[in-house]
Amino acid sequence: MDKSSNTFWHQATINREDREKQNGHASTILWFTGLSGSGKSTLAHAVEEELHRRGCRTTVLDGDNVRHGLCGDLGFTENDRTENIRRIGQVARLFVDAGVIVLTAFISPFRVDRQRVRMMVEKEQDFIEVFCDCPLEICEQRDVKGLYQRARKGEIQDFTGISSPYETPANADLTVATGDRDVADCVNDVITHLEQRGLISGG
Ligand code: ADX
Repeated sequence: MDKSSNTFWHQATINREDREKQNGHASTILWFTGLSGSGKSTLAHAVEEELHRRGCRTTVLDGDNVRHGLCGDLGFTENDRTENIRRIGQVARLFVDAGVIVLTAFISPFRVDRQRVRMMVEKEQDFIEVFCDCPLEICEQRDVKGLYQRARKGEIQDFTGISSPYETPANADLTVATGDRDVADCVNDVITHLEQRGLISGG
């Protein structure tokens, strides 16, 4: 429910196009989605490093970090995850306006929530869904945070892939097999995709 009535939109005099021109590249949201442990954060940060090296303005919004602050009041019920993704979508959109390439690393398990963010942006190019395709068995083997083991024991409720669903993207812009490949190869897939779309120039 929108409670912010009697407010007025102030039109900025410096707009997104001005900022993009100054930056020398387009802004966009690179939306990484996948199971916990599928490599979203690792890949997002590695892609950011490469973009930064090329002089691009970037930022990463990361699930575990954002849940310490902006979304610290949210848990992992379906409603809370939906609200989590809604907030992140809004923040990501602000970064796009600011001329930044924003890389988001959230499980974002529900198609409808990801679709809502896609619909929120101005242009098709503003939302690029990158599916980190890593089988559950591998995520569980990795179990970097020890959470799968705890979820299997029933110590964590609503755990994605175990007791809460993950809806595989039906229309991902890019699928990266993150299960058995080098991070560098995965980075290359993403950078090539951005180049092919003309969002960044060759490095
Ligand atoms: S999302 O579903 O709302 O997109 P988000 O990406 O913000 O999730 O947070 C996922 C991270 O929270 C996981 O990487 C893991 O470290 C931690 N976590 C804690 N409890 C859960 C849970 N029940 N399901 C999934 N991840 C959890």
